[in-house]
Amino acid sequence: MRIDTPAGSILCDPWVNPAYFASWFPFPDNSQLDWETLGQVDYLYLSHLHRDHFDAKHLKRFVSKKARVLLPEYPTSELEDELRELGFTDFIKTVSEEVIELDGGLKVMIQALTSPTDGPIGDSSLWVEYDGVRLLNQNDARPTDLATFEALGHVHAHMLQFSGAIWYPMVYELPQAAKTAFGKQKRERQFDRTWRYIDDLKASHVFPIAGPPCFLDDELWKFNDIFGDEGNIFPDQSVFMKEYAKVGGNNGVVLLPGSVTEITATSIETTHPTDVDEFFANKAAHLEEMRERKRPIIEAEKASWRHPEIDVLKEMKRRIEPLLEESIYLAKGVGGPVRFDLVGYDGDSVESIVVDFPGKEVRRYADEKVRYRFRTERALVEHLLFIDEVDWVNSLFLSCRFSAARIGQYNEFVYAFFKCLSEERLQYAEGWYDEHQRTTDAEDITIGDWVVQRRCPHLKADLSRFGIIDGDTLQCQLHGWRFDLPSGRCLTGVGHQIRARRAGDPAPSTEGEKPEAAAPTA
Ligand code: FES
Repeated sequence: MRIDTPAGSILCDPWVNPAYFASWFPFPDNSQLDWETLGQVDYLYLSHLHRDHFDAKHLKRFVSKKARVLLPEYPTSELEDELRELGFTDFIKTVSEEVIELDGGLKVMIQALTSPTDGPIGDSSLWVEYDGVRLLNQNDARPTDLATFEALGHVHAHMLQFSGAIWYPMVYELPQAAKTAFGKQKRERQFDRTWRYIDDLKASHVFPIAGPPCFLDDELWKFNDIFGDEGNIFPDQSVFMKEYAKVGGNNGVVLLPGSVTEITATSIETTHPTDVDEFFANKAAHLEEMRERKRPIIEAEKASWRHPEIDVLKEMKRRIEPLLEESIYLAKGVGGPVRFDLVGYDGDSVESIVVDFPGKEVRRYADEKVRYRFRTERALVEHLLFIDEVDWVNSLFLSCRFSAARIGQYNEFVYAFFKCLSEERLQYAEGWYDEHQRTTDAEDITIGDWVVQRRCPHLKADLSRFGIIDGDTLQCQLHGWRFDLPSGRCLTGVGHQIRARRAGDPAPSTEGEKPEAAAPTA
């Protein structure tokens, strides 16, 4: 998206080239826009380092290095470092949630989210104001609420994600019926969350953006939402408009690559390069055409992944064991061995490697019970080791080029660890969990017949807004996590006990209580 005002233009997350082992492509295709012209901007905003937002090749080739970078306040300098490497030199280091005034009366504010589960150690939203017209590019960030933006005055344009951007549940080795049921639940939850954000901000106009991606490799083609599968987590903008209308929404605006919207405080006018309804009515044909056109790009990428000279076990040991040694919270949170089944070039032979979190070592699989099992091509892991990738979520897992099985509940620590394969990231994540576990959130609220802690044990959403009680279960609408209230047990993830009691029951004494361990596991 490019925001133009008389006081300057801001280019936001220009993503064109495929991401995550050539699995995700932008849809509709935006590669044929006039990027030479679009890249000549005054400001550049990169919300975070996920590769469907941070497209290094494109930034290097097309975006003016004179652009001033609006930098979110992140705990590590990785975003700035990567941009400097691409040739950007002028950085405006913003302070999270502080409005700054740029030349010509253009005002911006960036809210940075910094938990280890937000993007690759950080995700953000950009608020912009010019001449009384306000815009929020919430993107795919998930703040607990939008109060900070609301407080700055009525917003005219609210851009936010509404579709899926994850591997769940498709990659799990489950019966198809279960996958469909989980996918359906997820799809509904994504929309519910979107309605909640829209309702929070009550902007004049709502723009569904930041996804869904499309999948053009034959192996991943099935993930496109063109088969009428109610469990598909990647609904597109036209589905958004239909669902939004069902909940009374009538201010949605769909943008295609090349669409232009002009907004004032009282008016909006949008022009499109082609008819939007007709475009989505022919979605399958557009995808087919793209698939043929992009095939050589996918083939070229695939040819670069194999590195037979790499001894995967030895390299994983060298890279991962020192981090296991240092890890307290994440290792305890994972609580068991995680197995990688690496399928050889012949498509048949399998090398099984275990990352043993309690034993703090990487070794061959020894016929034991494991907490998670991932199955993927050996070549992909060879490539990760070859390029020294520190974030396997922002590469392997988001590629969806793997299958997974797990015993028990979702375990966020597994993924948090594999996105922190560097000293800097691991230390940050460990510190964050340490602080998070120590912060006892003492405030209670009453919802229906229950008194519960105000902040969600997952990522601290305000349960007076996001909590819904159904019988003895509380669901937090922000990410859909569920809690059994009589026992306080989290039904979605490991650990994360909630404090709850029936209204009318006396509050227990908390004197001498210790904060709960990061993740008690069996
Ligand atoms: S904050 Fe994630 S489910 Fe509540």
